[in-house]
Amino acid sequence: MTTAEATTTPAAAPAAHIAIEPSILYFGTPVVLLTTENDDGSANLAPISSAWALGRTVVLGLGRDGQTAYNLARRPEVVVSLPSPGQWRAVERLAPLTGRSPVPASKPPGCRFAPDKFAAAGLRPEPSDTVRPPRVASCPLQLEACAELVRPDASGTFVIVEAVVRKVHADPAIVVPGTDHVDPAAWSPLVYNFRHYFGLGPELGRSYRAETPSARNRATHSDVAASPPNV
Ligand SMILES: Cc1cc2nc3c(=O)[nH]c(=O)nc-3n(C[C@H](O)[C@H](O)[C@H](O)COP(=O)(O)O)c2cc1C
Repeated sequence: MTTAEATTTPAAAPAAHIAIEPSILYFGTPVVLLTTENDDGSANLAPISSAWALGRTVVLGLGRDGQTAYNLARRPEVVVSLPSPGQWRAVERLAPLTGRSPVPASKPPGCRFAPDKFAAAGLRPEPSDTVRPPRVASCPLQLEACAELVRPDASGTFVIVEAVVRKVHADPAIVVPGTDHVDPAAWSPLVYNFRHYFGLGPELGRSYRAETPSARNRATHSDVAASPPNV
């Protein structure tokens, strides 16, 4: 059996699953950095991993008591900056910080107020074009957006935000030259996997909707085609 088959063929007799009670269900989603505007016009910056896109809408899951949720309920403009795996330490420097003062009782032990989280993380703000909060300059992908819906989740502990993207900025190094396609071989998200940080491994294959060639066929294919966005 080849290595490729070994990774795709199910074992004949898989081990029986066991029921577990994990404390969290962070099953591996990309980290994004959200910039929002505080009451005094300064910028707040917060990492989250509960973010996903439906067309031009990005859905965000936020703790109800955080400064980001507070800001978005009052000022809907937001920037969603996507860090690369090499930026995980800057993300982790933000982890114990909140822009909210006093620190809400619901925050985990050790959480402290930081009025300038760009400085605390060692990240540089860069002005946005269509919204007031700045982008994170070193993040390869930056989405300027506006929160159209901010509502409580079913538990009352979180808020769900639906933000419509107005403008996308990309580092040219991750864009297929001459196109609007992000090159999946050049871009890798920073993945939050049960509270540990990972990048992507090598490509396994491509979707039938892919608009860019597989990494291994890159030299021979030029199958960049126009087709509608979505999944
Ligand atoms: C990698 C990572 C992922 C996180 N994911 C989320 C998330 O999905 N939703 C959330 O509300 N908080 C998440 N947090 C925690 C927030 O960053 C944290 O509550 C922070 O204090 C929020 O800042 P704020 O109060 O200034 O908005 C995450 C933290 C890290 C480091």
